[in-house]
Amino acid sequence: MTEAIMLVGGKGTRLRPLTTHTPKPMLPVAGVPFIAHQLARAAAAGVTRVVLATSYLAEVFEDHFQDGSPYGIELVYLTEKEPLGTGGAIRNAASGLTCGPDEPVLVFNGDILSGLDIASLRDGHVAAGADVTLHLTRVEDPRAFGLVPTDAHGRVLEFLEKPETPEQIVTDQINAGCYVFTRSVIDRIPAGREVSVERETFPELLETGALVRGVVDTSYWLDLGTPGAFVRGSADLVLGLVDSPAVPGPTGEALLLPGATVAPAAVLSSGTVVSEGAVVEAGAIVEGSVILPGAVIGPDAYVKDSIVGAYATVGARSSLDGAVIGDGATVESDNELPAGIRIACGVLLPVGAVRTTAGPGGCPAGETSAAVVHARSVAAR
Ligand code: GTP
Repeated sequence: MTEAIMLVGGKGTRLRPLTTHTPKPMLPVAGVPFIAHQLARAAAAGVTRVVLATSYLAEVFEDHFQDGSPYGIELVYLTEKEPLGTGGAIRNAASGLTCGPDEPVLVFNGDILSGLDIASLRDGHVAAGADVTLHLTRVEDPRAFGLVPTDAHGRVLEFLEKPETPEQIVTDQINAGCYVFTRSVIDRIPAGREVSVERETFPELLETGALVRGVVDTSYWLDLGTPGAFVRGSADLVLGLVDSPAVPGPTGEALLLPGATVAPAAVLSSGTVVSEGAVVEAGAIVEGSVILPGAVIGPDAYVKDSIVGAYATVGARSSLDGAVIGDGATVESDNELPAGIRIACGVLLPVGAVRTTAGPGGCPAGETSAAVVHARSVAAR
């Protein structure tokens, strides 16, 4: 029997407005809440009991997953009134563990999609008699990450902050957000206050001579913390580029959930998901995107690498490229939303309000917009 802690209490600020009503680990990725993939992968690795360390929108988790029995895993919830940071959350969750002081406990960040061999990480930790074992991954550009150099035997040498100069890039290995702790190490983290494992717990362990191992695993790895990564992770699961027993359907160009309606003349590709009750109308093209429950994609709309929130509407001929549309928002027809744009929940973007190219006809026939009236009056002065 192996126990695990899953850190799911963060506010997910980089994914706003999607995280306004839904905590990041509960956002649907390839048709199910993201942590359903992690729970399924953990269960497949022999994990039988998971403590969910919740804080932000805590009730959403228990409402959905209950005691975990439909998922074949026992779930326990421990909520921090105020978020305690990664280390503080792990310490707080320890009261939900039942294992002894020498047993290994897996710890997962609730926003990492990976193909890691979880069982082998745990077994290697036990065989080495380590205090903590970290999953490390290699990245092409390490400048945005804290670095974790190791020696030839995989012993962690240092935890370095983000490098500021080329000389400080001493390795391409970064913390991949999955750990094995020996239970007694968790019990020694200070209780009742904010603690960061990365900045406080791990460096202190090194100072005291603890055995902290880093295992480099170069299988699929993605931090779903930003909108771009979020849609990519969902699409990669749908396309089958990373395995998850929780994907609710065969892998391929698109995943249609029960109750989704897609017109025969619409084209879905590149790992698109159309959720329950969502509608894609004739002539629409949807590539690599996540269409959440009840959303409507109008005729001849073009949606690429975007997230369309629950019950949001994208009007006829509108196009989205790398956009996030908040729940219940309405993008009326003939808008052209550029990459990186985020539309807040519930707002209405009128016909042709945002464009990066000349619109089909400018102002509706017979009307002149306030902006044009103003421009003409300035020109006439
Ligand atoms: P951003 O605000 O966009 O940075 O996202 P985040 O709040 O999720 O923070 P981050 O991505 O750094 O967190 C990594 C993982 O730890 C996520 O799964 C978070 O849910 C979780 N996490 C972060 N802080 C806390 C905390 O204080 N308590 C708990 N229980 N989990 C946390």
